[in-house]
Amino acid sequence: MTLVRTDAAARAAVRTHDLDAVVVGAGGAGLYAALELKQDLGPQARIGVISKLYPTRSHTGAAQGGVCAALANTEEDHWEWHWFDTVKGGDYLVDQDAAEVMCRDAIETIIKLEHLGLPFDRTPEGLINQRRFGGHTRNYGEGPVRRSCYAADRTGHAILQTLYQQCIRAEILFYDEYQVVDLAMPGGPDGGVSGVVALQLATGEVHSFRARAVLFATGGFGKIYKVTSNAHTLTGDGVAVAWRRGLPLEDMEFFQFHPTGMYKLGFLLSEAMRGEGGILLNGEGERFMERYAPTMKDLASRDVVSRSIYQEIAEGRGIDGKDYVHLDVRHLGAQVLNEKLPDMSGFIRTYFGIEPLTDLVPIQPTAHYAMGGIPTDIDGRVLADELGQTVPGFYAAGECACVSVHGANRLGTNSLLDILVFGRRAGIAMAQELRSAADPEPDLEAELAVSRAVSELRGRQDGERAATIRAELQELMFTKCGVHRSGRLLEECRSEVRALRERARHLVIDDKGCRYNTDLVEALELGFLLDCAEATVESAVARMESRGAHAREDCPERDDAAWLKHTFAFRDPDGGDARLAYKPVTVTKFEPKPRVY
Ligand code: FUM
Repeated sequence: MTLVRTDAAARAAVRTHDLDAVVVGAGGAGLYAALELKQDLGPQARIGVISKLYPTRSHTGAAQGGVCAALANTEEDHWEWHWFDTVKGGDYLVDQDAAEVMCRDAIETIIKLEHLGLPFDRTPEGLINQRRFGGHTRNYGEGPVRRSCYAADRTGHAILQTLYQQCIRAEILFYDEYQVVDLAMPGGPDGGVSGVVALQLATGEVHSFRARAVLFATGGFGKIYKVTSNAHTLTGDGVAVAWRRGLPLEDMEFFQFHPTGMYKLGFLLSEAMRGEGGILLNGEGERFMERYAPTMKDLASRDVVSRSIYQEIAEGRGIDGKDYVHLDVRHLGAQVLNEKLPDMSGFIRTYFGIEPLTDLVPIQPTAHYAMGGIPTDIDGRVLADELGQTVPGFYAAGECACVSVHGANRLGTNSLLDILVFGRRAGIAMAQELRSAADPEPDLEAELAVSRAVSELRGRQDGERAATIRAELQELMFTKCGVHRSGRLLEECRSEVRALRERARHLVIDDKGCRYNTDLVEALELGFLLDCAEATVESAVARMESRGAHAREDCPERDDAAWLKHTFAFRDPDGGDARLAYKPVTVTKFEPKPRVY
């Protein structure tokens, strides 16, 4: 009887919102999709964006060095070169049809953004200026081409502000500081998605956003690692929610480490610093990248540069034998540092207390970007399986998604491009689907389950704290499932992640209140992180080769005969091994060959 009354009360307390479409996440992908939806469906359409942050704090705002498109504003370039570089950069795990769409659409996308008001840096002639980035070649393997369009070293910030302003103008409905907890999927994946369930941070109330189409644009999950460029909020929320709902996650074993994180802090020092001429030096003062990548040197692809740094460190050539090397930007001069790289120079001065014009900067690779995520087609439709079945009404775009344009290693500046191209395409596809979609069926069970889970957490008196388990998880993933991997380390990592997951079943939170209960949010986020870590390590254990960011010392070669395929990992509902399935890579033009930089 008590339970019935409690459930009835919980159900009555759920606040509902009826929308046409709901976008979860207010970074570049989510905002661009929302804008497109509103433009396509007209002023009456109720398009809601929910975010656990204020939109202008979304992680897109942290992207620094640029967004690439073969505009050829400063030197010869072609979108087909960009396409090739993307495929090669991804170590041939890229779906080439999707990458073709991205690189071809890039040019129009940048021009459209400029027309929306984005203040790009200019050439003396007034064109959008472009700079060099790693892995972008002049022509099929030669040195770097200037392809990255930028606004100083605040490109993501400029994109976010531009899109947010346009969304406000279009009267998109914003629900700020709502933590997504579940998907409404009353009939399972075949029946489709009909909204999301979220927690309002200001009040602790459960809200049900009912809608005929849902887009997840919730970002990545870099906080599974100890040293990361990702903000504290990057906890894989959307990725984990989809996985819990029985949907697959694609290519989770591929996680990019950016070569130039600030030593120990992990904050990013943009590749633009090397694009503008910065170089890496080991403990002997040697420009070691010349040995590893004779043509591209410091601007080889990120997986290559990060591994080279670790190799130097492993062979005792870190600075003073320690686990870092130096970035040298002294020769760039005050004008370049202050005008083209002002934030980077400021970070170095503020966080290290040194002067980039005169001092060498300590750096180490930092966990930066998830190549894997929720599988989608080229219009953001979420795939229910490796055969290509889609989930009605459910879309994903941006870092939480895997349309597979990054393969095993993403090229710098392709992430901002991905969120723009595929965020926009998802918005267009959602608008089309909405024209004929039936009214959403509420998922009362999901609404109730969230209320129950939250009350249970609040009610528990004993147990472990989320922060303890999170710190152990981050250390574990960094040391056993990071840049260098082996079968032994990965197996150990897998069983230790499972043990952490067991411990996390009994979390206790100290704050039992409702308003801005960050203790509660961190407990929910830990659950998401554990799910993402589990999918990552399960996929990594199985892949017996080295490709892109997945480098195993027990199988050091790329093995196209056995492994030119995408991993689809499905959660085992009973807590056992994930079920893994595989999908062939789409090769339309570029036959895989050895990668040399
Ligand atoms: O180095 C950077 O500015 C990062 C760019 C990216 O990840 O695309």
